[in-house]
Amino acid sequence: MSKLILTAVGGDPAETVRLDNEQQLTVGGGDVLVEVEAAPINPADQLFMLGWFGVYPQVPNALGAEGAGRVLQAGPEADQTLIGRRVIILPTFVQGTWADKVVVPARNVIPVTDDADPKQLAMLPVNPATAYALLHDYVALKPGDWIGLSLANSGVGQFVIALAKRAGIKTLAIVRRDDAAKQVQALGADLAVVAGENLGDRIAEALAGAKLRVLFDGGAQDLGELVRAVEDGGTVVTYAAVTGQPPVLPLGDLIYRGISLRSFYILNWIQQTPRNDLERIYTELAELVAQRVISATVEATYPLRQYREALAHAGQQGRSGKVLFVPGQDA
Ligand SMILES: NC(=O)c1ccc[n+]([C@@H]2O[C@H](COP(=O)([O-])OP(=O)(O)OC[C@H]3O[C@@H](n4cnc5c(N)ncnc54)[C@H](OP(=O)(O)O)[C@@H]3O)[C@@H](O)[C@H]2O)c1
Repeated sequence: MSKLILTAVGGDPAETVRLDNEQQLTVGGGDVLVEVEAAPINPADQLFMLGWFGVYPQVPNALGAEGAGRVLQAGPEADQTLIGRRVIILPTFVQGTWADKVVVPARNVIPVTDDADPKQLAMLPVNPATAYALLHDYVALKPGDWIGLSLANSGVGQFVIALAKRAGIKTLAIVRRDDAAKQVQALGADLAVVAGENLGDRIAEALAGAKLRVLFDGGAQDLGELVRAVEDGGTVVTYAAVTGQPPVLPLGDLIYRGISLRSFYILNWIQQTPRNDLERIYTELAELVAQRVISATVEATYPLRQYREALAHAGQQGRSGKVLFVPGQDA
């Protein structure tokens, strides 16, 4: 049994991550043993390894926030009907998913459809749920409304675009590269604008008088330019800080125009969402994956043993999609 673990916080993952090949796995009463089919490398994993995430590593700390796999075994107090089922593993930053097998408290898995690509299901717990919550929990959106998003070509962005399109909501997608603009338009974004000079003016021109009801911001440096497109009394939801800078809104927008700044964090959302709702939402999202309504572009998959290459690849900017571990490739 193989599992990637973090041995020190900060520094180069090539030095701080180790593949542990001799794990003794004990399945506790309320646990399940899952054979992992796929597990992505997310920015949150990278932040976690650096000690910059909302949860601080307790080294040695198992790595990998989310994943999908099949239940091989269930402890006596766990639901026995889970055995043989495909499940998604919810993020805790404790149990780890970058492993060929993992023991997880049964409450941290949710059974999902067998009829979908496990790589896509492995990415379900974090980004699609984030997109779902962004679209449902802040502003009551209706068909024809406009929303805006920075980081639009990211995994989160791709899911926001797909879910919004399905709901008849129009999307203004902000990216930082021409090829990413083409990519998000192909995915269904109504408008794509590349960040840079005169961004606010170019957005206003593209929107032709329309205003955004809500803006989802992943850390745009020029948030003040973007917020000009938000309607009076509208909302900005911040959920990431790729530039490392806090979201800064001009005082005039905050005070005179009544723009609200709110935030989202997936671990709080999972903790605060009643279990029935979590199961309903993830089941619905898994069905959308099976129907190919939502997906995230995959750029590469790696076996666990190539973790150094995989982590370096995931750390590159300008990727076309996600990098995942597929432990079955180790065989
Ligand atoms: N708050 C939450 O609970 C929550 C939940 C999910 C995700 N997130 C965060 O959301 C962000 C996106 O996650 P993801 O998994 O969707 O990411 P992803 O698919 O790996 O995509 C990364 C995105 O970040 C952009 N980017 C990277 N460095 C940047 C920089 N210095 N300046 C501007 N843009 C930069 C990339 O643009 P290029 O393609 O041009 O390089 C790309 O659009 C991450 O920061 C993640 O931590 C937060």
